[in-house]
Amino acid sequence: MPASPRLTVIGTGYLGATHAICMAVLGFEVLGVDVDTDKIEKLSSGEVPFFEPGLPELLTKALESGRLRFTTSFAEAGAFGDVHFVCVGTPQRADSEAADLTYVDAAVTSLAPHLDRRTLVVGKSTVPVGTAARLAALLRSLAPAGDEVELAWNPEFLREGFAVDDTMRPDRLVFGVTSEWAEQRLRAAFQPVLAQDVPVKVTDLQTAELVKVAANSFLATKISYINAMAEVCEATGADVHDLAEALAYDERIGGRFLRPGLGFGGGCLPKDIRAFAHRAEELGVGQAVGFLREIDGINRRRRARTVDLVVELCDGDVAGKRIAALGAAFKPNSDDIRDAPALDVAATLHRMGADVVVFDPAAMENARRVHPELAYATSALDAARDADVVVLLTEWNEFRDIEPAAMAAVVRRAKIVDGRHALVPAHWRAAGWEYRALGRPSLHGTGHA
Ligand code: UDX
Repeated sequence: MPASPRLTVIGTGYLGATHAICMAVLGFEVLGVDVDTDKIEKLSSGEVPFFEPGLPELLTKALESGRLRFTTSFAEAGAFGDVHFVCVGTPQRADSEAADLTYVDAAVTSLAPHLDRRTLVVGKSTVPVGTAARLAALLRSLAPAGDEVELAWNPEFLREGFAVDDTMRPDRLVFGVTSEWAEQRLRAAFQPVLAQDVPVKVTDLQTAELVKVAANSFLATKISYINAMAEVCEATGADVHDLAEALAYDERIGGRFLRPGLGFGGGCLPKDIRAFAHRAEELGVGQAVGFLREIDGINRRRRARTVDLVVELCDGDVAGKRIAALGAAFKPNSDDIRDAPALDVAATLHRMGADVVVFDPAAMENARRVHPELAYATSALDAARDADVVVLLTEWNEFRDIEPAAMAAVVRRAKIVDGRHALVPAHWRAAGWEYRALGRPSLHGTGHA
């Protein structure tokens, strides 16, 4: 076996494509595997099928190095790889809150028959605790090499928009293993990353599976906590923005993930907390994480409350009113609209009879596909033309940079809902705008942000 293991990455979606590209750039021979021929063709020709800053350049570099190739053949993957990373999606099931493990199971059952020598298979997908042990047994039973095939778990914590950095320089690596050999193989498969003194936590399989959902649950809890405080602020006239800043000075609390507003969305946090609550119930410990249902509820209420604010600014009825929706992606620097709070709010306003015009710097194509009923503009100013209310739904930097006076000149009525606490209220009020944000008094004394 070579000193540097040859890697396959099964599943070339967001996580897998990023992992394959970064590992090839770091010097490994990598084979990306997917059942989707369209994705494989795009990646092979140098096209990243989603928006991620920095990744297209790295894909070009990796392809030019000759160290990265893509295939749809599991036989080729089995023959090529020493370490196989499973990076397929685990979406929420259509019929329940549980994670859908169809793709993980399919990846393992397709690969296993081609494993005829000592091999390590590494799960990276987010799965319900207990899945790894089941997959390990499945692998052993299906692989010609039997017990020589081991399974490890290496959860992935990358954030969209920062995927390259998070992969090249993660906060930590978690290696869930059942043998010393597996640990050493994983260390070899991450050698260039480990060389940067990235801490490694070696655990058993089930702890590694849990780290991921525990981390995402904590992050979701932090966001919903401050949004719960926003609800209390609204009832008292207090200002959640100032409250969050004051809390953040306490190093034990910290300011990150304490930004109030429209709440969390995306392909991970919402479905992960639901799947975790569901799994805990199956295990008979549902009560221990019952609070996650509350976290989800607080998060959903933020969307409804944002709609309410827009209605309020439209004097109680949005029917026939023109609403400029700034943002569609679930967060900035992403074109991902999965469970996007922004589009949820825009679509709800449309259903209530408003004439909604959306602009997003990256997610227009995806938004149009899923919400063809909405109107789309070519810029923020274009969206705001003749608007009765402007509502900021995704905190792209270019929205922060909008000149309030320039936008005031094109709207019908200068009223703005800042759904992400991204703007400086004093600037907007000075330019004649009625500024509103969740959890902030309607007329802020000093107007500072
Ligand atoms: C998340 C985790 O951060 C990452 O570690 C995991 O691997 C996948 O899930 P991601 O979905 O890319 O990553 O988005 P993240 O940056 O975590 O933001 C999640 C959502 O929370 C966004 O909708 C964002 O707008 C919202 N958010 C974030 C807030 O509302 N307030 C905050 O303070 C922070």
